[in-house]
Amino acid sequence: MDSSFSGSIFADRLNLLLEQNNLKQVDLIKLAEQKGATIGKSRLSQYISGKTVPRRGVIELFADIFGVDPDWLAGTKDDPEVQAHAGTVQAPGKRTFSKSAKLDNVLYDVRGPVVDTAAVMESQGTHVLKLNIGNPAPFGFRTPDEVIYDMRMQLTDCEGYSDSKGLFSARKAIMQYSQLKNVPNVAIEDVYTGNGVSELINLSMQALLDSGDEVLIPAPDYPLWTACVTLAGGRAVHYRCDEQADWYPDIADIRKKVSSRTKAIVIINPNNPTGALYPRDVLEQIVEVAREHNLIIFSDEIYDRLVMDGLEHISIASLAPDLFCVTFSGLSKSHMIAGFRIGWMVLSGNKSVASDYIQGLNMLANMRLCSNVPAQSVVQTALGGYQSVKTYTVPGGRIYEQREFIWKALNDIPGISAVKPKAAFYIFPKIDTARFNITNDEKFALDLLREKKILIIHGGGFNWPEPDHFRVVYLPRVEVLEDAAEKMKDFFAHYRQR
Ligand SMILES: Cc1ncc(COP(=O)(O)O)c(C=O)c1O
Repeated sequence: MDSSFSGSIFADRLNLLLEQNNLKQVDLIKLAEQKGATIGKSRLSQYISGKTVPRRGVIELFADIFGVDPDWLAGTKDDPEVQAHAGTVQAPGKRTFSKSAKLDNVLYDVRGPVVDTAAVMESQGTHVLKLNIGNPAPFGFRTPDEVIYDMRMQLTDCEGYSDSKGLFSARKAIMQYSQLKNVPNVAIEDVYTGNGVSELINLSMQALLDSGDEVLIPAPDYPLWTACVTLAGGRAVHYRCDEQADWYPDIADIRKKVSSRTKAIVIINPNNPTGALYPRDVLEQIVEVAREHNLIIFSDEIYDRLVMDGLEHISIASLAPDLFCVTFSGLSKSHMIAGFRIGWMVLSGNKSVASDYIQGLNMLANMRLCSNVPAQSVVQTALGGYQSVKTYTVPGGRIYEQREFIWKALNDIPGISAVKPKAAFYIFPKIDTARFNITNDEKFALDLLREKKILIIHGGGFNWPEPDHFRVVYLPRVEVLEDAAEKMKDFFAHYRQR
């Protein structure tokens, strides 16, 4: 401890603080101004060079700006802690911005770090085979001509906002589609269009959840569900889907995970990422749990028209007339118009238990004014009449044949096994982690990307807790899948994670 002022110590310490905070003299002058003090430029230069020591009030001002002890700054006291704490002052005009804490636990790896690495590789001229995102158009799946024609015809009528829930014609068509699927008690006001199902997942969770409310979500999931529950302040509680049972939800696990805070259960049927399609008895058991615990059922059915092997999609809402259900679907996948952004949600069953929640939904729907109106204008065309998507999902059709190929090809790779998908265009293979020494599935995805230029999403991206799965999107043509499968076989023939 030194009891006298020391010009050179003060100057050294002021310089240190400026350096640690990456500030210039002019920044310090501005910061002083913000505190109501005027410091001349030449005067400050003298302080900094050690020629003059300022009066105590100025030292206190600087100490306040940097958040340090004035005695330490003056040189009358040593404090090794100060250096450790310095470095947090920002220059005016140099302010940086962080994402909100609300996003701290939000994960959406379908467009995450592995995908970012692929983008960098592509920007450097490397061709990357993308098996990571369920976007049909880039793989040559064309929108039905009639849809394009009808949108062109109606474009000039779609210049204004629509009703916040959507055009009458679109909602009527969705209501009738719900009737065909035996979804009970759906009126026109129960139909909400959105900019894709994505917007409505977010909206429905924001309207429902208070801090700490729990929602049961499948693992693996389509990660937007978990992300939106978390963003809304809720807690996503994952129940297992059972690979040994064709990836159906494990009802015993669902029961174990229900708590007094559980408000709802989400099902994704047909499923992304597993390609599972749930049979009636599984759906009935889920309804039973929801009934016992008074849960809302949210059912994401965006792949309901992409079902194979002559199977039938059953809407869970049709089995639960006494419960409040929200069913989601859209045209992104079945009509190959993911870019047009049109989806919907339908409220059904016992709406009286949810009248306040419905007010919240209406409020949020009003706040975003309406969904994309040109896209709404083709809903009636898309849902009625001939469904061209059916030609893709039968033998000889692209999705069917691609599924047959990828399923066999993956199972032919030693150390890889996969349940045959029944719907959608995803497969979720299992990796024998001991064989490849895999402990980190994201690293495995990066290694595959770097070595074979193939982009897949690791299981963790779908909130799958073990590092032993990945998702393949089998939208590319068989010739392309052949090449991908060959490269994966080659990769797994030697891969050992380090
Ligand atoms: C299960 C599931 N739900 C919702 C969406 C989002 O669909 P939309 O394009 O309607 O926003 C996707 C997209 O991949 C999905 O797989």
